[in-house]
Amino acid sequence: MASTSFSVQTSSPPTTEEASNPSMALLSSSDQSPSLPRRSSPFLFSTLLITTCISTAAAMAFAFLLFSSPTSISNPSKLQVRPLTKLSHPVVLLISLDGFRYGYQFKAQTLNIHRLISNGTEAEPGLIPVFPSLTFPNHYSIVTGLYPAYHGIINNHFTDPTSGEVFSMSSHEPTWWLGEPLWETVVNHGLNAATFFWPGSEVKKGSWFCPSEFCHHYNGSVPFEQRVDTILNYFDLPNNQIPSLVTLYFEDPDHQGHQFGPDDPAITEAILHVDAMIGRLIAGLEKRGVFEDVTLILLGDHGMVSNCDKKAIFLDDLAPWIDVHSDWIQSLSPLLAIAPPSEFSAAQVVKKINEALSSGRVNNGEHMKMYLKEDLPERLHYSESYRIPAIIGIVDEGYKVEMNRKQSGKDCGGAHGYDNAYFSMRTIFVGHGPRFAKGRKVPAFENVEIYNLITSILNLEGAPNNGSLTFPDSVLLPCSA
Ligand SMILES: *[C@@H]1O[C@H](CO)[C@@H](O)[C@H](O)[C@H]1NC(C)=O
Ligand SMILES: *[C@@H]1O[C@H](CO)[C@@H](O)[C@H](O)[C@H]1NC(C)=O
Ligand SMILES: *[C@@H]1O[C@H](CO)[C@@H](O)[C@H](O)[C@H]1NC(C)=O
Ligand SMILES: [Zn+2]
Repeated sequence: MASTSFSVQTSSPPTTEEASNPSMALLSSSDQSPSLPRRSSPFLFSTLLITTCISTAAAMAFAFLLFSSPTSISNPSKLQVRPLTKLSHPVVLLISLDGFRYGYQFKAQTLNIHRLISNGTEAEPGLIPVFPSLTFPNHYSIVTGLYPAYHGIINNHFTDPTSGEVFSMSSHEPTWWLGEPLWETVVNHGLNAATFFWPGSEVKKGSWFCPSEFCHHYNGSVPFEQRVDTILNYFDLPNNQIPSLVTLYFEDPDHQGHQFGPDDPAITEAILHVDAMIGRLIAGLEKRGVFEDVTLILLGDHGMVSNCDKKAIFLDDLAPWIDVHSDWIQSLSPLLAIAPPSEFSAAQVVKKINEALSSGRVNNGEHMKMYLKEDLPERLHYSESYRIPAIIGIVDEGYKVEMNRKQSGKDCGGAHGYDNAYFSMRTIFVGHGPRFAKGRKVPAFENVEIYNLITSILNLEGAPNNGSLTFPDSVLLPCSA
């Protein structure tokens, strides 16, 4: 993989014995909390902005009713924002652990992550990625609040059908990256923002120029310690220069997940390592007396599931029905994206492939279904972009698509990119800081909610997006009266 790329799935996954995952079922509808109404209008937003920082008994009672659980706080005085003691303005530190599947936090003694959980607010069970559950689409949804169809990063790599240009993970031209990422929102309001890696952070947008003191060009070889220490140094700046938003990205445990699958001891080791990095960060903030003032949001972009060669679907097997040319294929697995040339009817191609898959004569054919993008389930929000290829194949959990049997990978590894309703695709969310109740659990939610959550904490008016306007109130402590 190119050194300038973020980690994503490799096409040659390795060895581990296939884990039988007890949580294979699709979510029940009650588990899918993000079905709240989503409307974004600037008018509504400003109204909300005012109410979020007025503490009303009603709002508190509402939040308490919704989220009280055995672990909820019982002391009402703790139901209010804790005032800043050292910082002059709210600061959000947004940390991504790539591929941190929900539940990894129980694999080892992750003392530092658990410290954030026990004194913070956690999504239980987990944070729901957007579809496709891939690294770039999800990281950019987290910072824009938009589904990939609206923020433009519809895959880790794709071809623009009108210009023919190719997007890759090292494409930094602003035309690819739609929407308004958080760092742009922050600097548009005259505040500082800093990024130590995040997909899209090197792209110049609005008043965000990726300034060298606050923005780093992606280099996966930069040791994690160096990333943490650089960020800690920002807290030694004069108060008014301390960035309001800081992002921090770690490639692990995604890297190990692809190579060995989610149930390998290598994952446990990687988790202990990232937990130590969180510990280093907490210690540095404590040393500077700002740990309780800073809002730490720890999350991931997606989960991970084991996949093995015996779960492969080979496109060559479709030949008696249709010849799917390799140059029609924009991505193979687990998101099969096909853009046939214009002389072919996409509807016919879908029909032929589905005939083949359901014939009983294609190996694992029953584990994939092809759709015209406009016919995909609406909950995937994966059609409203000219960049999304006409034909999308949805693959069952843990299955993979390959051109032919000659493509030999290692036997078993891990993958993500599947339907975001699979529990295995979920990741972690923990918020710790003045606006987060200690020891609270909130229901699972989709990561498009995070943009509004962070602009609420920073008291900024955000750009229109796909998050719900009522979400921040349901999770955050109200500002003090
Ligand atoms: C949680 O916060 C309290 C202060 O509010 C502190 O005394 C306690 O040590 C913290 N617990 C952990 C596990 O960090
Ligand atoms: C990437 O980071 C490593 C470790 O800090 C450094 O040695 C290397 O020179 C960097 N590469 C580039 C292209 O900056
Ligand atoms: C998502 O947000 C964008 C920008 O506000 C809007 O154009 C689009 O209709 C929204 N889509 C959904 C499904 O809410
Ligand atoms: Zn990822």
